[in-house]
Amino acid sequence: MMSSNQAKPENSPHILVLGMGGTIAGLAPNPEVDPRSYKAGELGIETLLAKIQEAIPGNLKLLAQQVANINSRDLCEDLLTLLGNLVKTSLENPAVQGIVITHGTDTVEEAGFFLSATCGKLAEKLGKRVVLTGAMLPANAPQADGPLNLLDALKWAATSRENCPGGVFAVFAGKVCLARDLAKRHTSALNAPLMDSPSTPVGMVNPSWMSRVRAIEKASGDDLPIPQGLWPWVEILTSHAGARSQVIEFLASTGVQGLVLAGTGLGGFHQAWEEALKLAQDKGIALIKTSRTGAGMIREESALGLTAGSLSAPRARIALQLALNAAKGDKSLTWQDFFARIAVLPEIR
Ligand code: SIN
Repeated sequence: MMSSNQAKPENSPHILVLGMGGTIAGLAPNPEVDPRSYKAGELGIETLLAKIQEAIPGNLKLLAQQVANINSRDLCEDLLTLLGNLVKTSLENPAVQGIVITHGTDTVEEAGFFLSATCGKLAEKLGKRVVLTGAMLPANAPQADGPLNLLDALKWAATSRENCPGGVFAVFAGKVCLARDLAKRHTSALNAPLMDSPSTPVGMVNPSWMSRVRAIEKASGDDLPIPQGLWPWVEILTSHAGARSQVIEFLASTGVQGLVLAGTGLGGFHQAWEEALKLAQDKGIALIKTSRTGAGMIREESALGLTAGSLSAPRARIALQLALNAAKGDKSLTWQDFFARIAVLPEIR
């Protein structure tokens, strides 16, 4: 294994392994009795790799780099920019064959969507894979899932181009999915980040999943720029019984640039919001409609807001931030054009 701290940059072919922290790097004070009480982001990426060294195929050269070591609930936009820039420049490095990223599962949905929308086409064109992974149990738990997830992610990143196209993927609990499909849907199940996402076993790829991957990649537009400064301010609001308009009026008066509405059912929202949303939209605040149900498509278009297809609210929020940022830099297209390019793909099963 090679370390990023070596004086000379590594020029021979290798897989770059980036550490972001999370439960995979977490430690529990009392792992035998209570493995679920732990602190995330305690071990470095080199240590995580050292634990599986014996099992790593001998021909695989790795270069490890610690980007952050956080609990991903604290993920911030600056860190996404740092990660995105690093992934982009590393993909362009001919010595990098693929990239594995260890990440907390709490916001891996956002990081996965962000990387897909900003580096997905590049990865695809170069035939390289970016693979996110993590764990639901800390590194010192008796049943720790991190070591196998990391090993599977390394294998997936190194899979030959004939067997799988380049792109941004995620590996958890023996399964792989497109990173744009990630959505943590359970507090503790080992497959939580992809339990509701179209996926396939890492070791025995289902041909219909692979043809879906190819169809989605064909339908996705060009990569969007990575915001380099302050990201546009976008909030998520959930509609519910007894919803009130004051929160919208407050955000609209304090400079919010976009609102993602996690509506009920097919994406509808409480009538108490209607007037305040109309005023917000007239003021130039971007509105996106999603559903709080957690699954299915929203097709219904209306005068208020764009629909986000099958995107969850956290993913739609990243998409809107990237679209607002792109429209600021390229006046020939609107934020709606950029949003449609990355968010609203035809329904592909
Ligand atoms: C985190 O997201 O950093 C903690 C939770 C996890 O990784 O499962």
